[in-house]
Amino acid sequence: MAEVNLDWTSLSFKYRKTDAIIVSRYKDGQWSKPEISKDFDFHFSAFAGIFHYANASFEGLKAFHGIDGKIRLFRPDENAKRLARSGKRLGMAYPSEEMFIEMCCMCVRENLAYLPPYGFGSSMYLRPVLLGVNPQLGIASSTEVLFCVMCAPVGTYSGAKILTPGTAVISRNYDRAAPNGTGSYKLAANYATSLYPYNMAHNQGYRELLFLDPATKTKIDEFGSSNFLAIKGNSYVTPLSDSVLPSITNKSLQAVAEDFGYTVEKRAVPVEELAEFDEVNACGTAVVITPICSVDDKLTLESTEIVKTYKIPSGDECGKASRKFYDRIRGIQDGLEEDTHNWCLVL
Ligand code: PLP
Ligand code: COI
Repeated sequence: MAEVNLDWTSLSFKYRKTDAIIVSRYKDGQWSKPEISKDFDFHFSAFAGIFHYANASFEGLKAFHGIDGKIRLFRPDENAKRLARSGKRLGMAYPSEEMFIEMCCMCVRENLAYLPPYGFGSSMYLRPVLLGVNPQLGIASSTEVLFCVMCAPVGTYSGAKILTPGTAVISRNYDRAAPNGTGSYKLAANYATSLYPYNMAHNQGYRELLFLDPATKTKIDEFGSSNFLAIKGNSYVTPLSDSVLPSITNKSLQAVAEDFGYTVEKRAVPVEELAEFDEVNACGTAVVITPICSVDDKLTLESTEIVKTYKIPSGDECGKASRKFYDRIRGIQDGLEEDTHNWCLVL
């Protein structure tokens, strides 16, 4: 295994070339045998659906180098199921759970030099993608599909120190999803929709952009990169909404919260309830748990006038409950804590 000269302490969430990607193609009703490729450039038609109609879905999951030297993949079966759901929504072929997991394991094995060692708070992010590649002109689901698993060593999503709180702003005049749309599927198109308002929020210095339910704009949906979770007394509150991505991290944190004796409330969350929460976080594979210290509300993202700022009481610190949940989940991923829910796949 070739040594790579990386500073494991200063990784954020950036593209970094690794050794190999794992590729399979679906054509004429079957998937090809997954191949290890050192060539990171795909070759397919300029008429491929992915280029015109966003016939694409992706996933995100992580591999961890544990304190015991073991390599753990966190809940890959859940990502496989979610990709299958997205594939169905796009009307295109998707890999079986077994194939998905096998290709994720191959990707980790072929890029071992890039797996951050234990103790730096870093991990290997796996990015499976499903792309429609046959040439077409009219709007149609793809009949030929490329499934590829690639990876990169990562630290925190924002580049800030782990659990450093950041600010958020509410998106009142841009939606990431439509009512009865694809918000609950992990489709590439959802992210393209969010780029314009995201750029604006980032240029204004906000770390996160909080989207509302697109039908009534009165309830919290989720952040552009992650789910919303709040702590209120002994309750773990997270939005129940058709336009929110079903986050595997959120689902896992809910189980952890219940293990700690918290009540999990999955329900509509009115925007004004932001004034009542003790702790607010973004949660997801890339962001893990990212505390939010304040949320600005403006009539439009373009506006310079802030109508209201919700200051979250945990302020510049990560809240106590959130920290406890973070430590438990990271402990399970790092092999420090017993995996009582049987979440990790040991390679
Ligand atoms: N919401 C959105 C919009 C996301 O992109 C992600 C990331 O995958 C999540 C939530 C969190 O999902 P998960 O915890 O499965 O990574
Ligand atoms: C993830 O957390 O895996 C995501 O996909 C979020 C973002 C990087 C798109």
